[in-house]
Amino acid sequence: MNSVNKTPIWFMRQAGRYLPEYKKIRSVHTDFLKVCFDPSLASEISLQPIKRFDLDFIILFADILVIPYALGQKVTFLKNHGPWLNKINSKKDLSYHNMNRCLDKISNIFETLQILKSNKQDKKLIGFCGGPFTVLNYMIEGGSSKSHLRIKSFIKENKKKACELMEILTELSIEYLKKQVESGADYIQIFESWAGLLEKEEYVDFIVKPNAKISKEIKRFARKIKVIHFPRGSKLNYRIFLEHVECDVLSLDEDFPKDLLTTAAEKGITVQGNLSPLVLLEGGKYMEKKVVDVLKNFSDNKHIFNLSHGVLPNTNVKNVEKLISIVRKYESSR
Ligand code: CP3
Repeated sequence: MNSVNKTPIWFMRQAGRYLPEYKKIRSVHTDFLKVCFDPSLASEISLQPIKRFDLDFIILFADILVIPYALGQKVTFLKNHGPWLNKINSKKDLSYHNMNRCLDKISNIFETLQILKSNKQDKKLIGFCGGPFTVLNYMIEGGSSKSHLRIKSFIKENKKKACELMEILTELSIEYLKKQVESGADYIQIFESWAGLLEKEEYVDFIVKPNAKISKEIKRFARKIKVIHFPRGSKLNYRIFLEHVECDVLSLDEDFPKDLLTTAAEKGITVQGNLSPLVLLEGGKYMEKKVVDVLKNFSDNKHIFNLSHGVLPNTNVKNVEKLISIVRKYESSR
């Protein structure tokens, strides 16, 4: 094996419901947030996919919605329905007073990272948070949404209130990530999963500027930390994003302008991605071909193999094993 050219590999949602060992823990511990705040369980879950598949990155087990929880919003996860939050209309609806009080409420997560740091061996440890707009989306919608009507009209009709909330979210995310870095994260990923909802000035104000600020502050705090950005669904706006946001790794979904790979290479940015989780779900010869396609598409770039979004709950672990072996065999045959 040529270790110099080895493509590292991990998966978004690598710890989750497709793993029998995860489901076993969740069958006993039914409150999802409590699991996120239990350092012993959360670190065990983070390490489950590493033990099973020997992946190259460990990702902290937590959720992006711990931030609204820290801000005093009610957050619960209903079985088979995803998250539920009491809908808010402005910062007045939050019991938010000061940053440190918020961080205290979620400080167990830093303990999880410390445990992972002392068990990570040669693996890299990823901490994360949601992008401020993506978190705002859940806070305003009160959970998952198909149409996103509430958030879209909120930022148009109540721009001032939206900006106030965005400012709080951006500042809190920065402090939260700094603590994660102090607790042992080597990388941080910012999940801006709903970046694709916005266009033009709104994309610049709600996606580019806050993400640029987070990167800048984290880099200023710790020069060596690697920042992974995931502005999912940005399409042509990926170009604007790269122009303005300091980025060590750009995580790509399947739809991006082809010249972006050249720009990333010129800027020394690693690209991460981008196999569809549906392909992993399907498996078989179709998956084998698609995995090689991804490896070829990114062959002129520094590349971290990943999916274009998280592993789906019904995914067969055999498909995951197969995928990893294709990537590793491809490397050793080059
Ligand atoms: O990637 C990992 O393995 C680390 C842990 C992680 C989780 N959520 C655990 C989780 C990470 C990085 C996240 C990020 C997250 N959470 C995002 C951004 C990425 C994306 O998917 O777009 C978002 C939008 C959330 C909010 C969230 N959490 C939703 C909408 C849901 C319900 C939908 C679903 O997939 O169940 C969750 C729950 C959640 N977060 C689960 C896990 C393992 C499932 C909980 C369970 O039933 O056990």
